[in-house]
Amino acid sequence: MTLKAIRADFLHCLADPGAGAGATACEDLADGLLVIRDGLIDGLQPAATLLPLLGGDIEIEDWRGHLVVPGFVDTHAHYPQVDVIASHATQLLDWLERYTYPEERKFAERSHAEAVATFFLDRLIENGTTTAAVFCTVHPQSAEAFFAAAEQRNLRMIAGKCLMDRHCPEYLRDTAESAYRESKALIERWHGKGRLGYAITPRFAPTSTPAQLAACGRLAREHPDTWIQSHVAESKSEVTWARELFPGSRSYLDVYDRAGLLRERAVYGHCIWLDDADRARMAASGTAAAFCPTSNLFLGSGLYDYRQASAAGVTTGLATDVGGGTSYSMLTTMAEGYKVQQLLGTNLHPAELLYLATLAGAQALGLAHRIGNFAPGKEADFAVLAPAATPQLARRTGLRENALDRFFALMMLGDKRAVAATYVMGNRF
Ligand code: GUN
Ligand code: ZN
Repeated sequence: MTLKAIRADFLHCLADPGAGAGATACEDLADGLLVIRDGLIDGLQPAATLLPLLGGDIEIEDWRGHLVVPGFVDTHAHYPQVDVIASHATQLLDWLERYTYPEERKFAERSHAEAVATFFLDRLIENGTTTAAVFCTVHPQSAEAFFAAAEQRNLRMIAGKCLMDRHCPEYLRDTAESAYRESKALIERWHGKGRLGYAITPRFAPTSTPAQLAACGRLAREHPDTWIQSHVAESKSEVTWARELFPGSRSYLDVYDRAGLLRERAVYGHCIWLDDADRARMAASGTAAAFCPTSNLFLGSGLYDYRQASAAGVTTGLATDVGGGTSYSMLTTMAEGYKVQQLLGTNLHPAELLYLATLAGAQALGLAHRIGNFAPGKEADFAVLAPAATPQLARRTGLRENALDRFFALMMLGDKRAVAATYVMGNRF
């Protein structure tokens, strides 16, 4: 048995602050002690209460002056796209063809996939992200390399081999049959191994034949506890294309519904151009949306309406969508998400932004019983934020004591420089 404690200021969400609870959905504990037993959270209490009760042999890591928040949850990212970030293109389909597909070809080489997986996970960790739902390439070895790298770091990661059998370069195509067979082998090898989970990953409806989507549905039925991830209604031209390809479906989302790909633990990137019936279907099926603000702005895809989705009962998680997204930092992603909602006339409370990046992401991924806040029994994944990381932050955060106000400034002004340390299962990276 290992027992340790972290001494710092703590901030975490206990519920959705948008559901009428406001800041009371957040616990803000100045000078607290987080006790960790065998990598799991034992409890969080004021240091003044707990210190006299603790035996002398417990190791205390002293982060006083820092703000500890739950590890960030990135609900949608592409690890093979680390080398296409910030590539100039017009919009989504142009960007995919000019940069993304050619880059993904390199992942046929296992050694390349291993090197990139290591690079990607290092970026996540330095940014305080401890869980992500990740697209690999069509090559099964790209998923092997990613899972092996995540396992080595004991990270809670969800990933899957990308499936596409049409409308992409020949060199990136699988088939309905090989998609089924290779995904199944990866599920058997990696799903539920340690902290890893498998996501059935059709890239998006335009690059899968109906036969391949049906194979995905079959996999989903045969493995009901796996995840499903894809893209939907990201850009207007993509929506038009999907509707042309599937004239028998009521909507783009309905293509996935008919294939049996809407359910709990199914997470769809973007979800910008949906209608009310789509949102109702997502809510009823427990399907979640990944809000990708930096990507949606960069590719000019559109403004995701968080309030509209929440009002319809859709769970939203926040996501970087690297490399359509332009930052690994979930602090930056929260800041951009805030600005997108401002443009829509919605003012998000700082607590809602913290929620989106932590507990809501855990809920979107069906992992709220394991991660997302500091409730006893959860896994001790967290980020230690430095309110004085930069001269500007030091001036701004030194002015007010309120933890949510400091957190808001950290989001707006911070990036990985504001992440002093990341802990995974109670261990510092
Ligand atoms: N739609 C299909 N593939 C992709 C991708 O790689 N990135 C984004 N942002 N959208 C997609
Ligand atoms: Zn994506």
